[in-house]
Amino acid sequence: MQISFAAPSLDRTGAVAVGAAEAGLLPSAATLDKSLGGALGRAMGSSRFKGKAGQVLELLAPSGGRFSRVVLVGIGRADKFDVAAVEKLAAAVVGRLLTSGEKELAFAIDLPKGGKLKAAQLAAHLAMGAQLRSYTFIKYRTKQRDEHEPTLASIIIGTEETSAARKAWQRMQAVADGVFLARDLVNEPPNVMSPQEFAARAQGLSKLGVKVEVLGEDEMRKLGMNALLGVGQGSARESQLVVLQWNGGRKKDQPVAFVGKGVCFDSGGLSLKPGASMMGMKGDMGGAAAVTGTMRALAARKARVNAVGVLGLVENMPDGKAQRPDDVVTSMSGQTIEILNTDAEGRLVLADALWYAQTRFKPRFVIDLATLTGAIMVALGLEHAGLFANDDKLAGRIQEAGREVGEPVWRLPLADGYDKMIKSKIADMKNISGVTHGGSIVAAQFLQRFIDKTPWAHLDIAGVAWQDGEQKPLSPGWGVGWGVRILDRLIADHYEA
Ligand code: BES
Ligand code: MN
Ligand code: ZN
Repeated sequence: MQISFAAPSLDRTGAVAVGAAEAGLLPSAATLDKSLGGALGRAMGSSRFKGKAGQVLELLAPSGGRFSRVVLVGIGRADKFDVAAVEKLAAAVVGRLLTSGEKELAFAIDLPKGGKLKAAQLAAHLAMGAQLRSYTFIKYRTKQRDEHEPTLASIIIGTEETSAARKAWQRMQAVADGVFLARDLVNEPPNVMSPQEFAARAQGLSKLGVKVEVLGEDEMRKLGMNALLGVGQGSARESQLVVLQWNGGRKKDQPVAFVGKGVCFDSGGLSLKPGASMMGMKGDMGGAAAVTGTMRALAARKARVNAVGVLGLVENMPDGKAQRPDDVVTSMSGQTIEILNTDAEGRLVLADALWYAQTRFKPRFVIDLATLTGAIMVALGLEHAGLFANDDKLAGRIQEAGREVGEPVWRLPLADGYDKMIKSKIADMKNISGVTHGGSIVAAQFLQRFIDKTPWAHLDIAGVAWQDGEQKPLSPGWGVGWGVRILDRLIADHYEA
């Protein structure tokens, strides 16, 4: 989408979006209404449009004006008109117009009286909402019907503060690009998105100044990463470990580290999933996708931070060489693991990736993202990601960042009693507890055994990385790109020099 900012003007063609509060039309809308001979007011009268947040009213080619379409959107109560509401409003308009035949859309939304937003903020977040909603993933449709083809190509946002808005948007656009990359990676089918293909796409970040290293199986074997390697052992495709480095901070600054679960397809391995549960398991690399998208965002906006991303990329498949339930593997940390269920594979991948990230980079903190457990959806549904942490300060900052960008998280406990549940008779630990309760916590306890003294947080994103049901306002597709915005905000709020 081409997005630009310009001084407010109603002297245009194409579509225009104007706003109404519950108290009535905003100034631009009122001016437009006059030039249309009161058509907006009449349309409001004959519909149930009340200016409530989320309401949309469309007038096609009203006479008295040059606009092909006027979209009146409700902004709700001025005191509740925050950045999240602005983004949703823009998304609602773009959702209506994306395949409508319109090519160009102008926003003429004024700041409501009694609100807290600044003009540049309003404009930049209109852009963000519009951009995030404009995402499509239709490359594999060869027979798209004409009326399903996106037409909207350009959005002009009217604002009194064009240069401040442009500056804010430049930064946000880098984040939106990171979200789009994460969505693309998740949406690609698993026959395409192999560990090697994922690594190749990650290589693309080098254009932005990210240092990219790719380790294959031989190199990982030398490092002793047998927990990760065991998961990929039943696949015809080679496992990969990708290391991304963005050095935008001072030379001597300790980096922050992100680790992503990148199971490109999770069949369950020999502990095979039933067919219905296997559907969607191309998205089991959503953690790695979020980390990649975040690194892209940080590099594109030249964040003043040293950041590392480590991606554990494998395919969990059941062939004659596959890992068996009952196998024992020695992880890179030296700790041994009894594998009792090959479908609890994400924690095995993360065990080695986390250890690698900590020992090589000595980071200020490490945060892992993983579509780790179905149980997190039992606990939290699809609204919050699960947060676990060994550090209250880091946890608080993540919670705060999540609230700011609309990616909320909910903290769950860690405690010795749960840790005892993964004691093994023949190894240092087993990879499942063997009982069904507390599944997400047990998985997090397993990860914690691979955390040294580093402040650490684990985000279980199994419920938020993709969406099968109702679509989210800012995320029209399947892959959500969850994680890019919260991590970018966390860095911007607390870790930039
Ligand atoms: N990738 C799955 C978790 C998952 C399930 C993500 C559904 C998204 C939707 C993970 O590897 C897995 O299979 N976990 C098992 C753990 C169990 C064997 C202890 C699960 O959740 O059933
Ligand atoms: Mn699994
Ligand atoms: Zn998995």
